[in-house]
Amino acid sequence: MTGIDDVIRLRRTVKPVFMNGGSIPDAEVRELLELADWAPTHAHTEPWYFVVFAGDAVRQFDRDHAELYKEHTPADKFLTATYEKLEKMGKTASHLIVLCMKRGNNPNIPEQEEVVATACAAENLLLAASARGLAVYWGTGGRTYHPAMKEYLGLGEADKVLGLLYLGYADNVQAPGQRIKPLEEKVRWVR
Ligand SMILES: Cc1cc2nc3c(=O)[nH]c(=O)nc-3n(C[C@H](O)[C@H](O)[C@H](O)COP(=O)(O)O)c2cc1C
Repeated sequence: MTGIDDVIRLRRTVKPVFMNGGSIPDAEVRELLELADWAPTHAHTEPWYFVVFAGDAVRQFDRDHAELYKEHTPADKFLTATYEKLEKMGKTASHLIVLCMKRGNNPNIPEQEEVVATACAAENLLLAASARGLAVYWGTGGRTYHPAMKEYLGLGEADKVLGLLYLGYADNVQAPGQRIKPLEEKVRWVR
């Protein structure tokens, strides 16, 4: 098994609630972004765009996100528990990277390709973080996908928010990963 095989297998989602409040140096976060930037793209569109919140800005984002949830949820669907969860989401996280796809102006590249290329960039980032012993959580709850979130972040109509990546340190070793479906169910070989 090579080093990269280990990194891929051992990467685990670590929820922000398990993060311990430690601060990651901005330079290390920049390294992760630089590695994310090496993802493949069709026609060199490089559609990923990262909005990075650091330190107390993470807490402010969470408060703003909770308010967006309140403003954009019908009264009969609104849950105080969800509001409070969003408001405290990154309480002990160090950074939050909002993963966005910025639609380029090459009409030959389908939107789907811009989305998957951005997901490739995200996986680079997750693996690089994991290899450095950092905790990362990719969340899409609350109003992540709502147009109001795009507006809040200053994105255009054709752009997309794909996730909220909370980063930090965690003390506890994660439980081993599990895959529900056997690989054989997800592969068909043709010879
Ligand atoms: C696109 C995407 C969206 C996700 N959204 C959420 C989410 O909203 N809430 C959550 O608890 N986990 C979310 N996750 C994390 C998954 O739950 C996690 O990856 C899964 O449990 C597998 O665990 P592992 O990452 O340790 O292999 C998301 C992951 C991806 C790739």
